[in-house]
Amino acid sequence: MTRTTPKTYQVKSFGCQMNVYDGDRMSEMLSAEGMRPASDGEAPDIVVLNTCHIRERAAERVYSDIGRLAKPETGERPMIAVAGCVAQAEGGEIVRRARDVDIVVGPQAYHRLPELVAKAARGENALDTDMPLNSKFDVLPQRARNQRPSAFLTVQEGCDKFCTYCVVPYTRGAEISRPWAAIVDEAKALVDGGAREITLLGQNVNAWTGEDDKGQMQGLDGLIRALDKLPGLARIRYMTSHPNDMTEGLIAAHGDVEKLMPFLHLPVQAGSDPILKAMNRSHTASSYLRLIERVRAVRPDIAVSGDFIVGFPGESDADFEATLQIVRDVDYAMAYSFKYSPRPGTPAASMDGQISADVMDARLKALQELLNEQQHRFNLATIGRRTQVLLERNGKLPGQLIGKSPWLQSIHVIADGARIGDMYDVEISAAGPNSLTGTPLGALEFA
Ligand code: 5AD
Ligand code: SF4
Repeated sequence: MTRTTPKTYQVKSFGCQMNVYDGDRMSEMLSAEGMRPASDGEAPDIVVLNTCHIRERAAERVYSDIGRLAKPETGERPMIAVAGCVAQAEGGEIVRRARDVDIVVGPQAYHRLPELVAKAARGENALDTDMPLNSKFDVLPQRARNQRPSAFLTVQEGCDKFCTYCVVPYTRGAEISRPWAAIVDEAKALVDGGAREITLLGQNVNAWTGEDDKGQMQGLDGLIRALDKLPGLARIRYMTSHPNDMTEGLIAAHGDVEKLMPFLHLPVQAGSDPILKAMNRSHTASSYLRLIERVRAVRPDIAVSGDFIVGFPGESDADFEATLQIVRDVDYAMAYSFKYSPRPGTPAASMDGQISADVMDARLKALQELLNEQQHRFNLATIGRRTQVLLERNGKLPGQLIGKSPWLQSIHVIADGARIGDMYDVEISAAGPNSLTGTPLGALEFA
């Protein structure tokens, strides 16, 4: 069936920040093609579901979203595109299972989205899950001029670590680092477009390497030091890191790079050495703890965040207790925790000792209670502190704006004349489990 070429679009991203970045780039590309984002309440002509495959429920949600989109209460259904990691992992399966899907495009092929839209409009098969040798980054259009205050910049993709639970090496492919000049240029374009904070992204962002403009090999710390000199940029962050790629230089950068924010997302996943071994993490609980100590030695106030999986195959009560213990030892500012989800094709999915749902539920609850308590305590400890907030969005109350502290906490502020994109000096006056209240002391100028 042929369809009219879409004029309005909506891109819905699920999963990690890398997907949010891809979603932004797809939106910018569709805009460059002459389409515009559908406004609130308007039915878009094309919906891009930018999916995540990391856990089961994420994938199930895609099928229910497709079902809902395919049968709208009024009018014709939109053109439906499935992008992201589910598209990569299950391309053919999606087309078989959900006949109303018009386009399937993987995370390494989305620069071809405009061609695929044209094909779908002609009623042709539009499936592209190639992992082409030429990087999509070389052909994507320049970054748009209307950037949010806090922008993402993918510098590294893929993963060669092969943790036994994880699909990423299969959906995102092998580790690649984008070239220095491309990253610096994109950072400049983001700042020109209004970004004040840049988060450098990668599945293993701290594995980034490349030659700088003088032909010297650099690691992520070299890149961060170069971006530190970019006028108009106020803050630099990076995520997600693997403990084994936390170099001496990157640790040192936390001590002396002014724009690098005091926040480190460093997943450990579990606290028991036999489980870490079965996960193929290639670090131990104590090597992780030593790493955290070294980072804290150069930046004592750093907020440490992590990811955890409970119920990995073979996890005993004692193994789980070791996870609680490492959480107590580190004292996290925030963390994400998940029930183990067997991913098709990964080694752990066929391991003996799969854990029952009841046990997983109980372990997740206990872990989250501890993590929530730590997060609240971390927040309470900032009361009375004077700090800066970068205002990113409007709050619910009149005149209220919400932004992030250097430690990535949400801060609510009411300040006369304040606008999104402003940086304010604030004193933290109250702290809840999930956010802080700041009393404005004055707006700051950017360098
Ligand atoms: N089951 C549960 N959680 C997982 N993660 C990755 N793979 C799985 C899985 N199969 C979690 C890890 C990772 C985060 C992005 O998602 O904690 O760090
Ligand atoms: Fe999800 Fe991983 Fe894909 Fe990110 S890279 S969207 S976390 S499967």
